[in-house]
Amino acid sequence: MPFQRIVVLTGAGISAESGVDTFRDKNGIWSKVDYRDVATPEGFARNPGRVHDFYNERRRRMLGIKPNAAHEALARLEPAFKGSFLLVTQNIDDLHESAGSKKLVHMHGELNSALCEACGMRRPWSGEMSIDSQCPWCKAKGRMRVDVVWFGEMPYHMGEIEKALDACDLFVSIGTSGNVYPAAGFVEQARAAGAHTVELNLERSEGYSNFDEAVYGPATKIVPAFIERLLGS
Ligand code: NAD
Ligand code: APR
Repeated sequence: MPFQRIVVLTGAGISAESGVDTFRDKNGIWSKVDYRDVATPEGFARNPGRVHDFYNERRRRMLGIKPNAAHEALARLEPAFKGSFLLVTQNIDDLHESAGSKKLVHMHGELNSALCEACGMRRPWSGEMSIDSQCPWCKAKGRMRVDVVWFGEMPYHMGEIEKALDACDLFVSIGTSGNVYPAAGFVEQARAAGAHTVELNLERSEGYSNFDEAVYGPATKIVPAFIERLLGS
């Protein structure tokens, strides 16, 4: 294989065929809910119960949902690839972990994690959350929130991500519309580092013209095919 250092970015589109709603497709989440009410710190301050309900509903929808062939192909690539590998996901679901991916960072946080605004403690949290939820550490009540990065907040793991982008020789973007920064700018950063850039998506993203190569189609078809080709090359 001609590449030594791979960075893969995934978005909601990789989980779509597992049954997880995307954000900006025809019936996407943001066509039904105003993101300012449920995915901003201002929305949480205005009506925390509304935000808890929104994420409780997303937890319920995740029950029984399994990773698909695209998640599984990425999980196969990781151990088979002898160079450096980093999977960066914008997704807050745990389907990459369930498929077996290990070298993974969630830049927008995780649905199954909670943050206490009183003591700053982060911890796994799989149950429902409400304005009465109590922090298991500092015992503060009504200060718990889902550990997800909202619009206007800084994403997680940016130091590790920037370092990997500046050194990569292959950047693959899967299932993202390229609407939200800084993730939408990763392809340009990888190009500046001299990387070969590939877009695997259902349709052209906002940043499609920044990619050297593109394959369009459902992730469960095009991602396994791309990875088999990569491993065979
Ligand atoms: P941004 O500029 O990164 O993204 C704003 C996006 O909001 C726009 O690109 C557009 O796609 C979307 N948007 C605008 N109006 C909308 C509408 N009416 N309905 C649906 N979508 C709409 O936003 P930002 O405030 O600069 O984000 C800063 C950080 O927040 C980014 O680093 C990003 O990683 C993070 N973030 C997290 C989430 C999340 O839900 N976890 C959502 C967005 C951004
Ligand atoms: N296979 C491949 N791609 C798909 C599939 C599929 N089966 N279904 C949808 N897609 C593509 C769509 O064409 C679209 O380009 O996935 C992309 C999903 O885009 P968005 O819904 O905008 O999701 P994403 O890019 O992950 O959003 C970025 O915005 O609201 C925030 O935090 C949220 O992390 C999210 C961020």
